[in-house]
Amino acid sequence: MLFRLLVGAGLFAFAGPAAAQARYDKASRIFRLDGGDVTYAFKVNASGILQSVYWGKRLPDSAPLAAPELSGLSGFDVATNVVPQEFAGQGGGLYAEPALKVTYPDGNRDLVLYYRDHQIDGDEIRVTLSDLDRPIFVTLTYRIDRDTGVVARSAVIENRSTGDVRLDQVAAAGLTLPVAYDYRLHYSTGRWAAEWTLQERPLRTGATVLESRRGSTGSENNPWFQITRANTTEESGPAWIGALGWSGSWRMSFDQDVTGRVRIVGGFNPFDFAYRLRPGAKLETPMFYVGFSDQGRGGASRLFHRFERERILPRRGGDAPALRKVLYNSWEATEFKVNEAEQLALATRAASLGVERFVMDDGWFGARDSDHAGLGDWTVNPRKFPNGLTPLIDRVKALGMDFGLWVEPEMVNPDSDLFRAHPDWAMQYKGRPRTEGRNQLVLNLARTDVRDHVLKVLDDLLTQNDIAFLKWDYNRNWSEPGWPDADVADQQTIYVAYVRNLYYILDELRRRHPAIEIESCSGGGGRVDLGIMARTDEMWPSDNTDPFDRLQIQDGYTQAYAPGTMMAWVTDSPNWVNQRQTTLPFRFLSAMQGGLGIGTNLNRWGDADMATARYYVASYKRIRETVQHGSLYRLNRENPADARWTNLYVAQDRARAALFTLVGSTHKLDVMPTIQLLGLDPDAVYRIEAMDSTPLPATIPAQATGAYWMNHGVDVTLRGDFVGVGMILTRVR
Ligand code: GLA
Repeated sequence: MLFRLLVGAGLFAFAGPAAAQARYDKASRIFRLDGGDVTYAFKVNASGILQSVYWGKRLPDSAPLAAPELSGLSGFDVATNVVPQEFAGQGGGLYAEPALKVTYPDGNRDLVLYYRDHQIDGDEIRVTLSDLDRPIFVTLTYRIDRDTGVVARSAVIENRSTGDVRLDQVAAAGLTLPVAYDYRLHYSTGRWAAEWTLQERPLRTGATVLESRRGSTGSENNPWFQITRANTTEESGPAWIGALGWSGSWRMSFDQDVTGRVRIVGGFNPFDFAYRLRPGAKLETPMFYVGFSDQGRGGASRLFHRFERERILPRRGGDAPALRKVLYNSWEATEFKVNEAEQLALATRAASLGVERFVMDDGWFGARDSDHAGLGDWTVNPRKFPNGLTPLIDRVKALGMDFGLWVEPEMVNPDSDLFRAHPDWAMQYKGRPRTEGRNQLVLNLARTDVRDHVLKVLDDLLTQNDIAFLKWDYNRNWSEPGWPDADVADQQTIYVAYVRNLYYILDELRRRHPAIEIESCSGGGGRVDLGIMARTDEMWPSDNTDPFDRLQIQDGYTQAYAPGTMMAWVTDSPNWVNQRQTTLPFRFLSAMQGGLGIGTNLNRWGDADMATARYYVASYKRIRETVQHGSLYRLNRENPADARWTNLYVAQDRARAALFTLVGSTHKLDVMPTIQLLGLDPDAVYRIEAMDSTPLPATIPAQATGAYWMNHGVDVTLRGDFVGVGMILTRVR
């Protein structure tokens, strides 16, 4: 109340640097959000347009924030194009990317949004805009996270007129960076088994578009970005970061405008988009989460990792998401050839390694002997499991593990009982061919009957069986996204309705089965985003399980997403992807940098391999909290002469750290650079040991201060191909 009074009086309440604040200054008409080490400000300008003012390192409360009143540069670039808007309507002569584009039934397509009013509620500001004369209302929400300064932006579009309005393009937010000519955009590209390749390009005039037109998140681009300046390094300098919370088609565009400002617009993908908004109806956009760090690219990553742990990931009480269990997955061992006896044999061997969760993958249901049949028929195959799943589950539990199961609920094989009963449930245009991907079609989850069916099937599965975990797969992209039984004017809302119903099913399942944990998988890493992450506990980043490829994949993944959400398996050598041969310790050291799993055929491991694995699983349990919930430092990325992948994970309380350094190939007798650690307590004393308990080289003292490890560092010279070392540092005083 006091706060509201102060706001009303146009005064700022000072609440100390750590607290977040959301404020409005009546005199300057500036809105200001402060949280973590970030200030975000925008204002109502003299024309009544909502204009960007500042987004970057936190400024003192007393800092003047007045932004210049911008007018046009020339008749070619009138004010509409020069003023950086927080949420631009397509109208008034706008050439920059709009946040919202509408068409009225009378053909008018001019939309000019003005500030109307606002509300401030704790750390949240809601600003209402509307068109200059037509009753289209937009409510922008800005919520700043007090710990990280990450701002969550979204918009609700409301039709208060008496006729339908068609929305042609709807973003969650527009953002602006100050004039500079040395911005660089970082993002990731990929495809199946080759996800998370980092790309970098200068940001100049001429839009760069990152997007998915696939109906789901996709791996061609993943919906995150980082933007840096020329002086930004891994650990210093400005880095802006953003990610969309949406698991459907999405788009982000980046462009330097005529004044040199960089404008970012992100939200629904306008590709094939049309959304009929009936009188009184609203459309809410996805969230666009954006952050800033002056600690370089590493700082921006760590900010997002923390934000995901604290604000995005589901939790069941406690002050952190649950740690990932060490799991075993049967896919690479048995593929579709699952049966009770063989799964039991694998489970018995897995348990003896210290595995905590046994997951049976594809092949257990319907007529699923290959990827040609069975999807949609989620009943246990009686030939493979004559007594249902219960005997296997009971045995798995008796072995001290919990049980997980693979499902792909949004899909159907044409060769399935479900498709034979409901051919109209698959996405399609009437009378047109349906393109199959992996011999399957996508169910039209936008339909309420399909949504309810999928929910019921999964609910029954979880009610009838003691299942702790679902690996939720999604193995193709959309094609022919028709919805023939919907009104023509509503058919393209499939892009929104599908995802909302997917979220509904996940939310409802979690509500009915609060202990269930879920992994998001999509032919590997095709559906990783902050929308699905809010409803699942872990992600499968790639089907590529080669431990060396995986180092690069993991590096790309963790630019935006927390290591604790990233599953990584130890599998067979040679690896199925590229026939590369690697040692078991190398495979473990790669996979221990996320949530550890084992996906090998354990029947082929001899006693020596089993003993090695047992050792590493035990080591992993010592460092798993540090890896999953700690701070990740990438230690040698700026040194092209150092081919090692060197990652350090430091526990939140700095009492423990895990250091991994791995290399693909070494040359001659090169001596490798000393590794200086980061993030330790300089005054504390840390003991160091190898993860496999072999003696460390004599150049490394058994214990030393944090200051020593950070300034003197650790000398590790590796020799050979696909070799690495893992070390654990433990604070002793
Ligand atoms: C996808 C997943 C794999 C596996 C198979 C099963 O490819 O990414 O891990 O589950 O499906 O068919």
